[in-house]
Amino acid sequence: MKKYAIVGVGHRSYMYLGALVGEHAADGELVGLCDSNPGRLDAAIAYIGRPVPRFAPDAFETMLAETGTERVIVTVPDNIHAEYIVRALEFGCDVITEKPLTMDAVSIGRIAEARRRTGRAVIVGFNYRYSPVRTLLKQVLMSGIIGHVQSATFEWLLDTHHGADYFRRWHRTKANSGGLFVHKATHHFDLLNWWLGTTARRVTARGRRVFYLPEIGDALGFEGRGERCTGCPVFARCGFRLDIPSSRHLTSLYAETEQHDGYLRDKCVFSADIDIEDSMNAIIDYQNGVVANYTLTAYNPCEGYRVVFDGTRGRAELLNVERPYVQPDGRLVCPALPETNRITVQPHFARSYQLALPPSDGTHGGGDSVMLRRLFRDASNDQYGHVADDRAGAWSALVGIAANASLATGMPVDLATLAADVPTPDYAPEPFGPQAIWREFDPARYAFLDGATIM
Ligand SMILES: NC(=O)c1ccc[n+]([C@@H]2O[C@H](COP(=O)([O-])OP(=O)(O)OC[C@H]3O[C@@H](n4cnc5c(N)ncnc54)[C@H](O)[C@@H]3O)[C@@H](O)[C@H]2O)c1
Repeated sequence: MKKYAIVGVGHRSYMYLGALVGEHAADGELVGLCDSNPGRLDAAIAYIGRPVPRFAPDAFETMLAETGTERVIVTVPDNIHAEYIVRALEFGCDVITEKPLTMDAVSIGRIAEARRRTGRAVIVGFNYRYSPVRTLLKQVLMSGIIGHVQSATFEWLLDTHHGADYFRRWHRTKANSGGLFVHKATHHFDLLNWWLGTTARRVTARGRRVFYLPEIGDALGFEGRGERCTGCPVFARCGFRLDIPSSRHLTSLYAETEQHDGYLRDKCVFSADIDIEDSMNAIIDYQNGVVANYTLTAYNPCEGYRVVFDGTRGRAELLNVERPYVQPDGRLVCPALPETNRITVQPHFARSYQLALPPSDGTHGGGDSVMLRRLFRDASNDQYGHVADDRAGAWSALVGIAANASLATGMPVDLATLAADVPTPDYAPEPFGPQAIWREFDPARYAFLDGATIM
């Protein structure tokens, strides 16, 4: 059983904490916690229900030494991932880091160099890959049913509940998060790389902030609003509000700890000091000739995505509605509606059909629980190449970094000009041929769009 320490015990760390004290308690031992905020360390220990050694950032190496940590889980804000990844590697530990691997080309190089020098491993928690539905789409592409993919269209919609959240706290400045092209889209660029089995070569991007602006806040009737939701004069009628007191988790994690570091979890989403985009587009050229068209917006009425691959033998589309709408007071749809997915395959000169979908439970399209099993219990037989290392983290982050560079000049940016010698990831084994998909999934479960089934 390996010994784990976690650095950064904010929101995301609870997925790992919960696993290590719950379902995966027999797979790994939680031996240390490190955070700059003593209040959040208190909250984490209260959640765990037993004392765990706790350390301040300047005692990170002391923690690794005293606790015999073998794997460090990095869940701090994006702009300090690289610092902790490198410190952990240099101490002789392996690392599991949250996405994005890091935010800039220089630290991609630092991580690659430290990994080579130390021989230790880095895993990036690209939980989106592990979702059963996205894995099925990977199987479709690997099967060759639609031939060689030539182009892709990927549109991701963040709603006014989830999307707004990136405009409230540290994510809302490029210096902290790299903007949504890095912070959020790293998931999507990784999915494209993994689905296509290649890396990007060139990016041309556009991005603007068109919605989370002071004038839009005024136009929506929120004049006289405060700098944060707590105590805001328009709180009761604002559909963008974050109601911290209504959540015990948010209260213990942020409201009761803000006196230590001034971290305000509920800053107004219509503030003037935000500098990230809420509306982004990119054309991405891949090494294998595929061209992808990517769109991300963060102020939609609904949450979900659509991805389409066009190949030499046909077309495959995955349509997801994670949440159809948000309540007028900003709460989620209540009672919660299940996420819906549809994968449609349209071969040339034949009827199109929908694939029967595998069950997927839990957060992030069912990806989180599958990933935790892989990370903590058993990484063998990784048939679809789910487990991502620092090379995959680098190549997805580089797309966003190139997109940001393209925003600055309006010109296409070649990834090779940003970072040299970044090794190419092993995205997946060789394609396994059309028969395999039929073997694995009972053909009787494939419904044609007109209601018949494949026999
Ligand atoms: N994969 C996913 O679906 C997913 C979802 C949410 C967040 N994330 C990622 O998880 C990471 C954390 O996000 P979050 O929402 O938990 O943020 P958060 O602000 O809630 O937590 C960050 C924690 O890091 C601590 N911290 C800040 N500076 C530190 C330092 N110098 N040393 C030690 N600790 C420090 C903070 O006090 C806080 O407790 C981010 O990288 C984010 O991109 C991933």
